[in-house]
Amino acid sequence: MTQTQAPDSTTGLDWIEVGPLMAIPPLGARVVKHPSGEIAVFRNREDEVFALRNHCPHRGGPLSEGIVCERRVYCPLHNWGIALETGSALAPDEGETACFPTRVDNGTVFIGLPGSGGSP
Ligand code: FES
Repeated sequence: MTQTQAPDSTTGLDWIEVGPLMAIPPLGARVVKHPSGEIAVFRNREDEVFALRNHCPHRGGPLSEGIVCERRVYCPLHNWGIALETGSALAPDEGETACFPTRVDNGTVFIGLPGSGGSP
């Protein structure tokens, strides 16, 4: 279950509560269901958190089931590398998936989605 905080008037983002950082497995991900589609929230070894649409730019593989390494995730279907900071495929592959801002407040993870009227 997710909760939404009031829109941030400075960024226009709705910050969606994902849950405790410790509930996301290290080098793994948790899936957030959103009306516009699934969002994969990743945690790397350094406890950095990233959020991408759970849809590989190659053939739509579930990135949340991929292997996290530093600031990359490797798709479980054909092993494309995707940059967690941008959602872009690593060369020589091309393409990108949507990327969303994240923040951690007092151990709770939030993802920023476009405010009402926008689609992530
Ligand atoms: S679907 Fe992700 S690499 Fe092919």
